[in-house]
Amino acid sequence: MKILGIETSCDETAVCLIEADGAFDAGFQCKVLGNALLSQIAVHAPYGGVFPNLAKREHSRNLVPLLKQVLHDSGNQNVEVKNQNDNAKFKNEIQKILNREIELLEQLMPFLAEHERPDIDAIAVTHGPGLEPALWVGVNFARALSAAWDIPIVPVNHLEGHIAIAAMKMGESSYASLLQNTSIRGGLKTFEFPAIALLISGGHTELNLVREWPIFKTVGETRDDAVGEAFDKVARMIGLPYPGGPHVSALAARARTNAERTQNDAERIPRESASGPHSSALSLPRPMIHEDNFDFSFSGLKTAVLRLVKDKTLTEVEKMGLSREFEDAAADVLVAKTVRAVEEYGAQTVLVGGGVSANTHIKSELKVALDEIGIALLYPPHGFETDNALMIALAGYFRALNKEFVDPDTLRANGNLRLGTTGANA
Ligand code: KG4
Ligand code: ZN
Repeated sequence: MKILGIETSCDETAVCLIEADGAFDAGFQCKVLGNALLSQIAVHAPYGGVFPNLAKREHSRNLVPLLKQVLHDSGNQNVEVKNQNDNAKFKNEIQKILNREIELLEQLMPFLAEHERPDIDAIAVTHGPGLEPALWVGVNFARALSAAWDIPIVPVNHLEGHIAIAAMKMGESSYASLLQNTSIRGGLKTFEFPAIALLISGGHTELNLVREWPIFKTVGETRDDAVGEAFDKVARMIGLPYPGGPHVSALAARARTNAERTQNDAERIPRESASGPHSSALSLPRPMIHEDNFDFSFSGLKTAVLRLVKDKTLTEVEKMGLSREFEDAAADVLVAKTVRAVEEYGAQTVLVGGGVSANTHIKSELKVALDEIGIALLYPPHGFETDNALMIALAGYFRALNKEFVDPDTLRANGNLRLGTTGANA
């Protein structure tokens, strides 16, 4: 089955075409025929965060060029045909679907007129959660393509995509292969259910019990900020660019290397500049770490950082020490709660997904803790931790196998969609 994945939930526009066979538990194989992504980081960076309407505009501009690239890379024979299709019969319908995405409409109409229907069996599109204006662009694009080419739509939960790709197996050089436009092959890792899925992204921090694919039960979540959001806010407080997670993490890594080299605590914020002349060395809270539940809270941690940096100009060394302590605090809480959930639910496997899974320190701390209790730890293939359309095509494939198609007229974007509610009934 050939599945076209479309992702526009936040600040990445992404399109991917895969060909897949087999079921989740038997003989799954997939070939990535084309994969394209345009990041809007540079567009949003000057504002220090993502602006929903700006994201919407960028998605509208980017989708058709990305689709063209994916179809071209996939060697889809039909797409180069220049017969002027008579698209009059669906012209009105598509105009109606895209009446709020004029830039997209203006590119899509000539594209459809010049290209024949490609060989695609289903369109998988993210319909939530995320920024609603951004989600709508992808949803309406999928609806327009479905109308033009008579291809069914399978709605995909963005979070399910992040978890699905943690289970995917690719060769070591796969990400590099994708960048070189050579098609790559993948399968699924061998692992046992029940699993605990730890979702750590810019918008979510949650623990889910996965008894089988794709049945999810959320057992814990953040009560305020997401962990990625806390990374981004701390970055901003110390003058690092958006999105700040990787920058904070790089500073923390430098602090650890320094500490190893000097074998002392010189990289930490000196007492005087940290929190007053009489306070002890820098130490941040580990919110809710001892509470007997699986919930998280990161806003207190962020506020504690704010208290330390307020009205101060930190030196580079101080920023490094602060980043390290913040990353340690976040990792400690994530690891403790994940281990507790594994023990409570008798899980055999931990799947980690979402942009913060790109954090190497959190990954190595989780690995140490789970190795100790003999639990498998599954991470996304390198390069696919942050938003992409392969994860949407992948999660969509398993839903499509189950024929979970929707009536395109009733498909809606839902910014607050929860895991476990995706599908034809959402
Ligand atoms: O999953 P994602 O691409 O988008 C959402 O669905 O939110 O996650 C983006 C988040 C941002 O908050 C970003 O700062 C964070 O992932 N992130 C990281 C790292 N790489 C990305 N946070 C910590 N360390 C990293 N290396
Ligand atoms: Zn995401």
